[in-house]
Amino acid sequence: MCLVDEKMFAIHFSSHFLWRFFFVVGVVLEGIGHGLADGWFDAHATFYGANQSPSTLGGACGYDNTVHAGFGVNTAAVSGALFRQGEACGACYLVMCNYWLDPKWCLHRATVTITATNFCPPNNNGGWCDPPRQHFDMSMPAFLRMARQGNEGIVPVLYKRISCKRRGGVHFTLKGQSNFNMVMISNVGGSGDVRAAWIRGSRTGTWVAMHRNWGANWQSSVDLRSQNLSFKLTLVDGKTLEFYNVVPSTWSFGQTFASENQFT
Ligand SMILES: *[C@@H]1O[C@H](CO)[C@@H](O)[C@H](O)[C@H]1NC(C)=O
Repeated sequence: MCLVDEKMFAIHFSSHFLWRFFFVVGVVLEGIGHGLADGWFDAHATFYGANQSPSTLGGACGYDNTVHAGFGVNTAAVSGALFRQGEACGACYLVMCNYWLDPKWCLHRATVTITATNFCPPNNNGGWCDPPRQHFDMSMPAFLRMARQGNEGIVPVLYKRISCKRRGGVHFTLKGQSNFNMVMISNVGGSGDVRAAWIRGSRTGTWVAMHRNWGANWQSSVDLRSQNLSFKLTLVDGKTLEFYNVVPSTWSFGQTFASENQFT
């Protein structure tokens, strides 16, 4: 009798042990690798004021209205490490709350696609947006797609750059006056972030390089009034597209023109 009992105990114990063992190993492995393919980076996310309309927070990128600019409500202010002095304006990120680090506040495997539309300034006092931290200060609707509101609203996230899906073509908003042209470039697909921009008037004949003034605003100092305008853009991923005669000669400062061309 005694022997049998011990045997039964041993069998029960070992199967229970194996079960526990595989369960624990499984959770640890999923936690280490997130059970995800490579290419994800660690960062943190917060959300900004519940009462602020996400559409008005074009901020440091200069998008007057991020909804009109084609970005919807899923936008974020990003820390300097991600912002790259404005080059990241318009870039898209797939952000997943890191459930394996914070199962309490993260929704399991919940992701949201956001566009960088603003800069999250450092406070140089150990703040979440201080260098070299990678941080997303998201609109509330974006944040709530992947996390619960609580824990002071800070969650660990994993992110990766993804291609931006935009409706319609690239938008050009003409700002400035007389021979000071400032062009706000928005609704950019593909990698979404513009590395270089050129402008050409129908009478100037050659492409004139524009310089980033701030955010998504590019400037040049050529008098292009009463001319058709064309643009050429190179994105951070190296893709280049030309936008011929996207602006008719009757243009005036303050107008926005949508091209039919788009990056993929
Ligand atoms: C200006 O653009 C229009 C189309 O918007 C085109 O028909 C016209 O030929 C262009 N003019 C010049 C000088 O390029």
